[in-house]
Amino acid sequence: MTGSDATEAAPLPPLARIPPAIACVADYAAYARERMTPAAWAYLEGGAADELTVADNRAAFDRLKLRNRVLADLSSGHSRLDLFGVAHEYPILLAPVARQALAHPDGERASLLAAAAMRAGMVVSAEADVAVDALAREADTPLWSQLYLSTDRDRALAQLGRAEAAGCRALVVTVDAPVNGPRNREQRLGQPLPAGPGARPAPQVAPGESLFSNPLITAAPTWQDIAWLRTQTGMPLLLKGVTDPADATRALAHGVDGLIVSNHGGRVLDTQLATIDALPAIVAAVDGRVPVLLDGGIRRGTDVFKALALGARAVLVGRPYVHALAAAGAPGVAHVLHLLRVELEMTMAVCGCATLADIEASHVVGAAHA
Ligand SMILES: Cc1cc2nc3c(=O)[nH]c(=O)nc-3n(C[C@H](O)[C@H](O)[C@H](O)COP(=O)(O)O)c2cc1C
Repeated sequence: MTGSDATEAAPLPPLARIPPAIACVADYAAYARERMTPAAWAYLEGGAADELTVADNRAAFDRLKLRNRVLADLSSGHSRLDLFGVAHEYPILLAPVARQALAHPDGERASLLAAAAMRAGMVVSAEADVAVDALAREADTPLWSQLYLSTDRDRALAQLGRAEAAGCRALVVTVDAPVNGPRNREQRLGQPLPAGPGARPAPQVAPGESLFSNPLITAAPTWQDIAWLRTQTGMPLLLKGVTDPADATRALAHGVDGLIVSNHGGRVLDTQLATIDALPAIVAAVDGRVPVLLDGGIRRGTDVFKALALGARAVLVGRPYVHALAAAGAPGVAHVLHLLRVELEMTMAVCGCATLADIEASHVVGAAHA
């Protein structure tokens, strides 16, 4: 795709100026919608089927309540952490989101510039409009490379080679989408987007045929492919899209270095558990052996805090930064990272946490039991 799918530029929103200010990340959505084509907006915003999981990813955060703590010594506070031997200034990364030229002509390049300026990590999608090795030459920030596995191992090796050439700090294998979910919002609109680079087609099933004879399913990866990939790289390997504790345990037995609790932003399986509700059981199964990250529905610093309190090491954000990308390019993405970080640090201060290590499960009331 090219940037021509982004609509004619409306005036830039006034970012943090008042009035009317963009005060929080959700404020970007309306500007993004104005500036994207209906088809691109449906693709970005939509989820599977009735989009119940999209809504529940958010609602589940809102159901959790916070307990503050008073009079803690905050004088040498910070929100730094280490992930796979790399220092991160704060526990928020940009999630892999495909085809960012649909949002802004500068696409992934703008997101990367923003991540680098704000010293945040970025996970580059397997379906990015710019390949990860080309992107890595443009700015210096911890990059992780996301890929989808199939039985096509040559393809996987080529992707691995690009990730290594790019100096990526980790490899993220997305395992929750052997097929795309039914994207009814896009189907109803009836304006299919042209296929992007690396895009996996939606399965076409003719009447009378079973999905199980579709090539996408017959080439879908299995645990054997994870075992094989493990032998091919020394890079830290994460599985993205694990929500079942038995799967988490099995992933560790396959030598995986980290897990991302994700439901693909509610885009694959509708009525799937909200990620913050799935987190405690995964954290219990992993028992501190590898870092567990989470994405889905993060819109506020309090959401980040709740995820960390329930055992996530860091979080990723998806749609919010692409809204800001569509609205304002790289400065918008940088602003989203800034807003989330400051909101997180405000929450830490009020909850008496000078560092991430001080954030505890007891700060959160109403969490799902492991
Ligand atoms: C438009 C769009 C494209 C996405 N593309 C990918 C992708 O290529 N690979 C992947 O692993 N996840 C992809 N995701 C899922 C995100 O990485 C992430 O799991 C999700 O957006 C998090 O939820 P949030 O949007 O509520 O923050 C995509 C999400 C959106 C909205």
